[in-house]
Amino acid sequence: MSANEQPSMSLGNETLRVPMALFALNRQRLCERLRKNAAVPKKSVMLLQGGEQAQRYCTDTDVVFRQESYFHWTFGVMESDCCGAVDVATGKSLLFVPKLPESYAVWMGTIHSRDHFKKKYAVDDVHFNCDIAEVLKKLQPDVLLTLRGLNTDSGNITREASFDGISQFNVNNVLLHPEIAECRVLKTDMELELVRYTNRISSEAHKEVMKAVRVGMKEYELESLFQHYCYTRGGMRHTSYTCICGSGVNSSVLHYGHAGSPNNRTVRDGDMCLFDMGGEYYCYGSDITCSFPANGRFTPDQRDVYKAVLKASRAVMSAIRPGVAWPDMHRLAERVQLEELARIGILQGSVDEMMKVHLGAVFMPHGLGHLLGCDVHDVGGYPEGVERIDEPGLRSLRTARHLLAGMVLTIEPGIYFIDHVLDQALSDPAQACFIKADILTRFRGFGGVRIEDDIVVTPTGMELLTCVPRTVEEIEAFMAQGTSCSKQFGQQPSQTA
Ligand code: GLY
Ligand code: MN
Ligand code: MN
Repeated sequence: MSANEQPSMSLGNETLRVPMALFALNRQRLCERLRKNAAVPKKSVMLLQGGEQAQRYCTDTDVVFRQESYFHWTFGVMESDCCGAVDVATGKSLLFVPKLPESYAVWMGTIHSRDHFKKKYAVDDVHFNCDIAEVLKKLQPDVLLTLRGLNTDSGNITREASFDGISQFNVNNVLLHPEIAECRVLKTDMELELVRYTNRISSEAHKEVMKAVRVGMKEYELESLFQHYCYTRGGMRHTSYTCICGSGVNSSVLHYGHAGSPNNRTVRDGDMCLFDMGGEYYCYGSDITCSFPANGRFTPDQRDVYKAVLKASRAVMSAIRPGVAWPDMHRLAERVQLEELARIGILQGSVDEMMKVHLGAVFMPHGLGHLLGCDVHDVGGYPEGVERIDEPGLRSLRTARHLLAGMVLTIEPGIYFIDHVLDQALSDPAQACFIKADILTRFRGFGGVRIEDDIVVTPTGMELLTCVPRTVEEIEAFMAQGTSCSKQFGQQPSQTA
């Protein structure tokens, strides 16, 4: 079979063609892990519940469907209301789809056969959901492995598979979660192709926004432009998270853009813009932040703060390699930023002493970055044995792991001037003694700067996936030239050996 004949998913035009082999390999890796786990009985069948189509509250209006991430990772199925099983010993894959009523053909389109789904998703067999108990009984499993586990970012628990007749089976709902989460942490080459694609399209979309931004525009116009580019050029119906398009003081609101503040401020002359937006394709995401002056020219203060954050970002990139502890990378970013804030004149004294009183978290109250994959804050950050560090800043880290080749992470240092946090620091003598309050006053209302790139850890360092103008000079030149240099930053060299 030629590459083009392999079962795959693409949305046509220039969009990426994703082979179903990606999901077959995911299932294979998961089965191998489960077979090595002595606690998993030999005759096990894992069963995953796909996402369900939801409606707006009590109405009959569908919410645009997005597949559940564990199910997507395992089967790559786009449709809602399915579930899937894998026989751990043989690797045989079974997909269960809804038996649709005739009215579906009128309102929703063709009712596809089971064989259609078998070919589309390259699984071994397809059955209807209503037959699940009967089909699974024939496999005679000693245990059904269902997925129950904590998402360490949200605090929510996964939705475990269930069906009429499940009580006839011996169900274990704890063995699967740590194994599948660990598989998701380490990306295969085929998955990396997907995150390279989401990064490429999202980087281009950020550049479109940087070219288009003008004083007087609404933040949401730029959000809309980003989404339009990602969708029309990349087939990305979803973004990985709600777009954060903060200008002026809003650039210091870490998760601005929510329903109460829907990116609705007017961009003003002299503002910093902090635009954190990432497109998602076939349930693989990206997470990119560009910070730049709205009028295309940095003021001296904006330049200083921007350069401080960029220095932290690049220091971390230079240090990344397998074996490095992620909290140490966070501390490194904090240290560089504190050194630079002292150089700018906002802080004074020993940076070592500042670190002891957690001054870094005053200016960067979030974690340095997180795992990225099917979820923007991807799973597997705190497996058993990895503890959250209960200190300011560090406690916000979504992982405290040592890095492994194949992990995809964001690196997103930032410096923000948040009145509430600054006032707290100034009222704490242990922190206030390092702050030059008169100079700090000048930065009130500045907003913030975040520089967020996506990377993959390689055996010898890292590969940078994001591809946007990053230095002060690149940003000013890019924004000045507008459309004429849209291709100039097609490649970025910043890879460590
Ligand atoms: N966009 C959310 C984050 O950066 O983690
Ligand atoms: Mn982000
Ligand atoms: Mn992020």
